[in-house]
Amino acid sequence: MQNLLVTGGAGFIGSNFVRYMLEKYPDYRVVVFDKLTYAGRRENLQDVAAAFGDRYAFVQGDICDQAAVRAALIAHDVDTIVNFAAETHVDRSIMDPDAFIQTDVYGTYVLLEAARDLGNLRYHQISTDEVYGHIHGDHRSLETDNLAPRSPYAASKAAGDHLVNAYHITYDLPATISRGANNIGPFQYPEKVVPLFVTNALNDMPLPVYGDGRQMRDYQYVLDHCEGVDLVLHAGALGEAYNIGTGREMTNLRMVEILLDELGKPRSLIQHVEDRQGHDRRYCMNVDKLMALGWEPDYTHEEAIRKTVRWYVNNPWWWEPIRSGEFKEYYQRLYGDRQIISEAAE
Ligand code: NAD
Ligand code: TYD
Repeated sequence: MQNLLVTGGAGFIGSNFVRYMLEKYPDYRVVVFDKLTYAGRRENLQDVAAAFGDRYAFVQGDICDQAAVRAALIAHDVDTIVNFAAETHVDRSIMDPDAFIQTDVYGTYVLLEAARDLGNLRYHQISTDEVYGHIHGDHRSLETDNLAPRSPYAASKAAGDHLVNAYHITYDLPATISRGANNIGPFQYPEKVVPLFVTNALNDMPLPVYGDGRQMRDYQYVLDHCEGVDLVLHAGALGEAYNIGTGREMTNLRMVEILLDELGKPRSLIQHVEDRQGHDRRYCMNVDKLMALGWEPDYTHEEAIRKTVRWYVNNPWWWEPIRSGEFKEYYQRLYGDRQIISEAAE
């Protein structure tokens, strides 16, 4: 493994992963293959381009484009594909599922087919805890659990996982899957809840908490996720899936309280609004399988949230232009007419 194609490498987790891998492995080369949708941004990688010279290359392309994928794999002599490319936001998948089916299902198929065609390249699929659906009682999702996705986003990711398994079983493709929890950290597009709420709060705008805010999520620092992916790539058993999370969970309301406290902003910014359709109540994964390979998270939820908040406070150059562009239209469409249930007391 030396020449990696990282699809979706200009997005949030992908750009953190590219930086992490180039720093850790001086003999690796990384080619980012990215369509540059609204979520993919060249500036997420501007320091990488400057720091790593010809060990890093960027190709603008769509993973649904068979010829472009094949050309990039051949031109850069790629031996390993790590597929981060996806449409990723649940609320957008509820409004417009089409791009999710294209990229997360058909795009995954195109990459698998190219990997097979070029002599069974090593393939790693970045997946999500959302494929398990929402989890009842005290259960923590195991890699062997049935997939039970409930949103168009989660269903498209689950379809990707099934395709990867099928290619491993049918064609012996050397493939692995990792299923990450809710990542937070630098360069996350401010549609996702933590960067949305930090940047709203910095603008003294209300924080739209869906429903009662008692949904449970595992807010994981992005570098913990990157380390887990690295470990699965190098030490994971082929044909296997690995959960990557802290193994713990927190309510959205608790996350909001930590976030507001770190900013020194009042709780009165909390505004309970009409819930998301089909909102998954709880995600939580058992991460013993990855820990058995020697991994453990470096950050607690609270540390991850505070560190993320500070990054947004210190980097308005990155998010202010985003919030004034396409984002404004999106925000109006999703939140403009949303019913307000209640405001929090001071
Ligand atoms: P993101 O939305 O920030 O970035 C996605 C990237 O994929 C962007 O750079 C975009 O331009 C690119 N892309 C989209 N469609 C493409 C296409 N057709 N061809 C090429 N590139 C395309 O996403 P993220 O949050 O960084 O998520 C990355 C991966 O991790 C996704 O597969 C997602 O399902 C998975 N994941 C995310 C989380 C999370 O909390 N964000 C958690 C678990 C798993
Ligand atoms: P999100 O960041 O969209 O991730 P996911 O839905 O993939 O877990 O949302 C995280 C949680 O925050 C989820 O329970 C939905 C909730 N949420 C809100 O309460 N308000 C919001 O405006 C958003 C975007 C999310």
